[in-house]
Amino acid sequence: MPGQVDGRVALVTGGGSGIGRATAIRFAAEGARVVVADIVLEAGEETAQLIRNAGGEAQFTHVDVTDDVSVQSAIDLTVNEYGRLDCAHNNAGILGPVAEMTEYRREDYDRVIDVNVTGVWLCMQAELRQMLTQDPPEGGHSIVNTASIAGLVGSPTIPAYSVSKHAVVGMTNSAARSYGTRGIRVNSVCPAIIETPLAEPLFEHAESEERMRMRQAVGRFGQADEVASVVVWLSSADASFVTGTPMRVDGGALA
Ligand SMILES: NC(=O)c1ccc[n+]([C@@H]2O[C@H](COP(=O)([O-])OP(=O)(O)OC[C@H]3O[C@@H](n4cnc5c(N)ncnc54)[C@H](O)[C@@H]3O)[C@@H](O)[C@H]2O)c1
Repeated sequence: MPGQVDGRVALVTGGGSGIGRATAIRFAAEGARVVVADIVLEAGEETAQLIRNAGGEAQFTHVDVTDDVSVQSAIDLTVNEYGRLDCAHNNAGILGPVAEMTEYRREDYDRVIDVNVTGVWLCMQAELRQMLTQDPPEGGHSIVNTASIAGLVGSPTIPAYSVSKHAVVGMTNSAARSYGTRGIRVNSVCPAIIETPLAEPLFEHAESEERMRMRQAVGRFGQADEVASVVVWLSSADASFVTGTPMRVDGGALA
């Protein structure tokens, strides 16, 4: 049976860990050729190796999403290696300190905005420019940006992160409106707490892990693959009429 994204070429940033690794693996399992991009070499290489060991096709490329030259080289590598770019998952991100707004240091705020906002912006720009040169695949090219439920509602303990994820939802919707008639769909995913290394500081500061768990209607935290499956679906022809959607993947946290 053909995979959901058979023959497509996918780029995943932050592919060395957590949600990005799960998406890269799932893209490959569903038939895509995958470029895994991450700032941490060993972790990104490991994801690509895991995919190849399972019989899939993947390459690693080093990227710092805050650097436009580095981002452009990741796109160039993708096109040189596989001829085109059909699907992008702009997912690299950081949490920043867990602290109230009044306690936040300027340099920490700047770093969160740099990686989570400017990083996604630079990736989208380079990806859109490449996609505009290509004939769209069935259902259109797809860009999926990882936002968060903190991009839909305020978050008292991670305010800069919340600012950054609101910006991701906003730039996703703007791009969806600009490029919808040109064969490119742009969506965001908004996960609640997913058990990855990024979420660990949230537990250290939490009053009670049980209370955090029960904020989700399903009474548990999410797993990276539960976000990956939504990203791959959004990238497939099955989601051909879905664009500009901040898709909650939150176990009912905001229900
Ligand atoms: N885990 C959660 O609870 C949760 C919830 C909502 C949204 N998110 C978002 O999901 C995305 C993935 O996070 P995760 O939970 O898998 O975390 P993670 O820490 O496991 O993975 C993040 C990856 O991004 C990479 N990265 C960081 N800065 C980078 C840079 N400048 N350039 C390139 N790569 C860089 C890291 O090396 C790492 O491999 C993030 O955008 C995060 O904000 C996570």
